[in-house]
Amino acid sequence: MTNNASLTAARRRSDRLRQLIDSTAPADAPARGRLRVLTGDRPTGALHIGHYLGTVRSRVELQDKGIDTFLLIADYQVITDRDSLGDLQGNVRGVLADYLAAGIDPARTTIFAHSAVPAANQLMLPFLSLVTEAELHRNPTVKDELAATDGRAMSGLLLTYPVHQACDILFCHGNVVPVGQDQLPHIEQARVIARRFNERYAGGEQVFTEPEALLTDAPMITGTDGRKMSKSRGNTVPLGATADETAKILRRAVTDAERRITFEPERRPEVANLLTVAAGFTGGDPRDIAEEIGDAGAGELKRVVTEAVNDHLAGHRARRAELLADPGYLMSVLREGNERANEVADATLTRVREVMGMLY
Ligand code: TRP
Repeated sequence: MTNNASLTAARRRSDRLRQLIDSTAPADAPARGRLRVLTGDRPTGALHIGHYLGTVRSRVELQDKGIDTFLLIADYQVITDRDSLGDLQGNVRGVLADYLAAGIDPARTTIFAHSAVPAANQLMLPFLSLVTEAELHRNPTVKDELAATDGRAMSGLLLTYPVHQACDILFCHGNVVPVGQDQLPHIEQARVIARRFNERYAGGEQVFTEPEALLTDAPMITGTDGRKMSKSRGNTVPLGATADETAKILRRAVTDAERRITFEPERRPEVANLLTVAAGFTGGDPRDIAEEIGDAGAGELKRVVTEAVNDHLAGHRARRAELLADPGYLMSVLREGNERANEVADATLTRVREVMGMLY
């Protein structure tokens, strides 16, 4: 699916998209106005600094550039690779508070949850008819996710969730999907579904447009143990951590035995990661930060990173705490977003049933 040729093509489309998004030329305004971002998170736990640097911040930028944005709290996707929903209500509130604290404006961005938009979920049925079992089994991201569950059996939902993700994207005609490279197979799947739907069920009419990935240019942040940063591994710095908790977590971060701090991502990934975090929050260059620390060693590096995170997130954390103190408000934001998403989804499903001859 994501072989080299399609990766190159996806990159090229992503570059073109970014140009259009950044363009202020009046001639680009109509095409720019047709852009709609769809993106989201699984509410499996608290959002962390990796989310912040990697996705949350750039979503706020897209919104502030005037790009219409749909932001999904992917609650059904929580149970793709685990048996329990965990503290779903708490996690949803936390994600909502982080979105708003980071600058997502619910008046401009539609925040909604999977489970609250039945018509979007119903697209799953026609869409499933458009993919083969072999295609589903070939998806490299699904394979990796299964492998990460330590011997768990493949569930029907894990196997088919890329199709469900196509529902997320296509119900609202999202055509810009900001993702990391690991999500490209899912975007490709959504493109295939859009194409096949139009051909098979709509006589070639463009009921769905093929979405495009907007590949992130933010560097990947790893966890404090050097592995992939993930809520379930406990190697994250949650956005909602206090300044003291942040200091404690970062003091335990893995580094190496060399005293002098240098930015060498290949040879010294853990040190480079901490420098990348500091640079991400201060807007500086990781090489310069390394140079400044020099022989002061890992202790000083951790102090610098802690200060960068805590200084930059102080306002975010204060707003987050305020928002969490008012769960009624948070739920009203979600309900309003759900309502808007339902209007769009109902219209799309009606169109789908119409072209399929299913309106009775
Ligand atoms: N799979 C994404 C994640 O794990 C969340 C998600 C669900 C998503 N549906 C989506 C992202 C549609 C982009 C488009 O973070």
